[in-house]
Amino acid sequence: MHALGIDIGGSGIKAAPVDVATGKLLADRQKLDTPQPARPGPIADIVKNLTNSFAWSGPVGITFPGVVIEGVTRTAANLDPAWIGLDAGELFGEAAGNPVRVLNDADAAGVAEMTFGAGVGELGTVLMVTFGTGIGSALFTAGILVPNTEFGHIEIRGRDAEDRASERAKEERDQSWDKWAGHVDEYLQHLEALLSPNLIIVGGGISKQADKWVPRLTGIRARIVPAVLLNEAGIVGAAMATSSRAVPDTSGRSGTGHERIALT
Ligand code: BGC
Repeated sequence: MHALGIDIGGSGIKAAPVDVATGKLLADRQKLDTPQPARPGPIADIVKNLTNSFAWSGPVGITFPGVVIEGVTRTAANLDPAWIGLDAGELFGEAAGNPVRVLNDADAAGVAEMTFGAGVGELGTVLMVTFGTGIGSALFTAGILVPNTEFGHIEIRGRDAEDRASERAKEERDQSWDKWAGHVDEYLQHLEALLSPNLIIVGGGISKQADKWVPRLTGIRARIVPAVLLNEAGIVGAAMATSSRAVPDTSGRSGTGHERIALT
């Protein structure tokens, strides 16, 4: 089963075709700058360009840096507010000319890490936290995702956590690793107090330099490991969302329950 994965971020939009059974990219990934302002129309044009540039015909999975419920984008902390309440599934479906599934970016990265990366075989409570323009989160237990957690927006010292502890916060304030890691440590301590994870996977671009900051996270009881799929996690998770039951339904439908349990 092959699908095109497209990962929409605050600064770049990346895409590649993926073999969803192995998590391997089937071609070099392509990256285009996120248009500024990051409004729906220009981003849909990029989705169209990327789909065409791979001459893609087949399912397309697309990540979005906000809450996504049944294809509708409900928040957009780091993109244009025009996304709020928009049917992104419909917009991107037309742009891509193929069936699409849209999901939260951190959820996609988390599902990819649980299946092919740092979370393989972890049955306890696993918290994936991505540090980038914002802070994203994905929460699992028994390998099952609770979609659309937004732990980047808990309040710490009267401020949104991602304003203090995202990669962007470090860059904008030109903070040392020590200072920034202190903010991350404090943030993760709050999450640990609320969720008691067994494992915390830290992802996002800055996890490439995990050796500079992960050893400084001394206040956490849970095991902490860097993500292993790095730049590819969002693309792989997006592609997986087109077919895998690892990405639960967000419609709130009722039923026997069996049809919604992820067993991948
Ligand atoms: C958004 C999340 C997203 C995260 C990382 C946050 O600002 O609210 O939905 O996962 O940024 O992009």
